[in-house]
Amino acid sequence: MTRSLTFAIPKGRILDEALPLLAKAGIEPEAAFHDKKSRALRFATNRPDLSIIRVRAFDVATFVAHGAAQIGIVGSDVVEEFDYSELYAPVDLNIGHCRLSVAEPAGLEGEDESAMSHVRVATKYPHLTRKYYEARGVQAECVKLNGAMELAPSLGLSRRIVDLVSSGATLKANGLVETQVIMPISARLIVNRAAFKMHSAELVPLVDAFRRAVEVRDAA
Ligand code: PRP
Repeated sequence: MTRSLTFAIPKGRILDEALPLLAKAGIEPEAAFHDKKSRALRFATNRPDLSIIRVRAFDVATFVAHGAAQIGIVGSDVVEEFDYSELYAPVDLNIGHCRLSVAEPAGLEGEDESAMSHVRVATKYPHLTRKYYEARGVQAECVKLNGAMELAPSLGLSRRIVDLVSSGATLKANGLVETQVIMPISARLIVNRAAFKMHSAELVPLVDAFRRAVEVRDAA
């Protein structure tokens, strides 16, 4: 492919909400992108200069931070967890709303954390978890998991978890309750800072197109 721009899109929940915005910003992926059976990871679009890659949310940030993709869409949870200086997040897309929260087993919640010096937490977000507890004078020992955090309390891995909560159904199904909201989350358009300068002729109008697409959608 001779396409000079690579756009990283996360698999999973944000994807469905992101597609109408991509369309409004003038980007239509090739048909194979919508084929759930396709094993392809990189897709052409209606723009000859732009291809799309579909990767895990945390990898969107990694590809864009390293300049392997120049632009992407990812939750603010990922942007904040990595805190990559190479990432510029110019547009809140106002999709993918959820929150990063602390959860504990139902019936055991309510312990005064400010009276504790140490907590053990299973999470995919060790940086944000430590930062949250540090601000409260509590040292957090994080056990890093990549998914299914909700299993940790019942199996004795940790009493608490820090994870994304949307409907709350996953917590409920696993006997947990949300005890603290750490931060609200929404999806962001992210751009590699160096690429933003090098490919400004393409990226500046593209970022503007997303900003306008969000404004038009939210005004409707
Ligand atoms: C996220 C998160 C929770 C769940 C919360 O996982 O890690 O498990 O969604 O959503 P709910 O409050 O609506 O139940 P996701 O399904 O995105 O999969 P993942 O484990 O691969 O991140």
